[in-house]
Amino acid sequence: MRVIGLMSGTSYDAIDAAAADLELVGDSLVMRPLGMVSEPYDDALREALTAALPPGTTTMAEVCLLDTRIGQAFAAAAVRADRELCGGRAELVASHGQTVHHWADGPAVHGTLQLGQPAWIAEATGLPVAADFRPRDIAAGGQGAPLVSLVDLLWLRGRPGRPVALNIGGIANLTAPDGTAFDTGPGCALIDAAARGFSGGALTYDTDGALAARGRVHGPLLERLLREPYYALPPPKTTGRELFHLGRLRDALAGCGTLPAEDVVATLTMLTARTVADAVRSVGATEVIASGGGTRNPVLTRMLAERLGGVPLRPSDELGLPSDAKEAYAFAVLGFLTAHGLPGTEPASTGARGPRVLGSLTPGAGGLRLPPPAARRPVRLLLE
Ligand SMILES: Nc1ncnc2c1ncn2[C@@H]1O[C@H](COP(=O)(O)OP(=O)(O)O)[C@@H](O)[C@H]1O
Ligand SMILES: [Mg+2]
Repeated sequence: MRVIGLMSGTSYDAIDAAAADLELVGDSLVMRPLGMVSEPYDDALREALTAALPPGTTTMAEVCLLDTRIGQAFAAAAVRADRELCGGRAELVASHGQTVHHWADGPAVHGTLQLGQPAWIAEATGLPVAADFRPRDIAAGGQGAPLVSLVDLLWLRGRPGRPVALNIGGIANLTAPDGTAFDTGPGCALIDAAARGFSGGALTYDTDGALAARGRVHGPLLERLLREPYYALPPPKTTGRELFHLGRLRDALAGCGTLPAEDVVATLTMLTARTVADAVRSVGATEVIASGGGTRNPVLTRMLAERLGGVPLRPSDELGLPSDAKEAYAFAVLGFLTAHGLPGTEPASTGARGPRVLGSLTPGAGGLRLPPPAARRPVRLLLE
């Protein structure tokens, strides 16, 4: 089955659309990656999202507008992926949507909201759409995240040692071989917020770590930031922009005097490196397989590698999954599993009562015709 996975993470920089041919062969899921296209959010939509997300507030009218505009933007990315990657022969779209709220209350998650109305995707592509993957796991007592953990486990199964999959997006998360998976805290979210704030919006992130490279880590600010109780919570735990946004950073900065922008960005980069490295060590990793936009920040990866000591840090590309596309491919896999009546969660990761078939389905132009349910869950993901 040819599936398009659509993903935009907490950085809301772009919609990533990855296409893959997926097939169940015995107890393996065989995936042939077909490529990825990335459609940046246009400036108006990105600004509307920035205004609506914490520390901003919003209205239901604005939520409706965002749901529509994001759905249309996801639809455009899906149309492009079908044309350029699938020769117009895609069979299913799996859309993560755009997370706008993750209702976490310490260790408990009560709800999560992803926008990007799937009807627009179904209308533009004519394809059935699987969307809203997270809520079912929450209804089953789980965190609804990190959902990519099941794909990580299938993909890294059998690899010697304790390989840990790490994704550094707006928020950073990891998956360990025993199924332990959680958000470690900020990935790029605070760095992006600071770069945006200090540049008056001219920068949306610290390109190639240029600001951080010119700055010095400010010890007292780092200590204040590390006091955030989230870091000490045991897994399973997940978080989002509700906790890690510009307002929190401003609170931490108050009382630190006036710091140069470069020093603040260097300190935030160290905050991510340190909290990720601590989390990686806590699960006994022997190697780290890294993905996500944060791996493009050389100052961050250098700080992280230093703090990991001898534990090697490898890009996921080395194992066949392009670092920028990994999460979009993961959602293509989750969509495939849903279409085949197979659970998309690992309860050891999300803390749910059991594995669940995820998502809501929107029929395509030809109604909703699904393949017969698969007899058993795959135990590994093989890349072709
Ligand atoms: N060249 C780069 N230099 C520094 N940071 C980068 C670079 N490219 C991407 N990033 C970071 O990666 C983030 C996007 O990563 P991504 O994996 O798409 O995250 P998300 O899943 O949250 O959307 C950007 O917001 C930025 O912080
Ligand atoms: Mg992104």
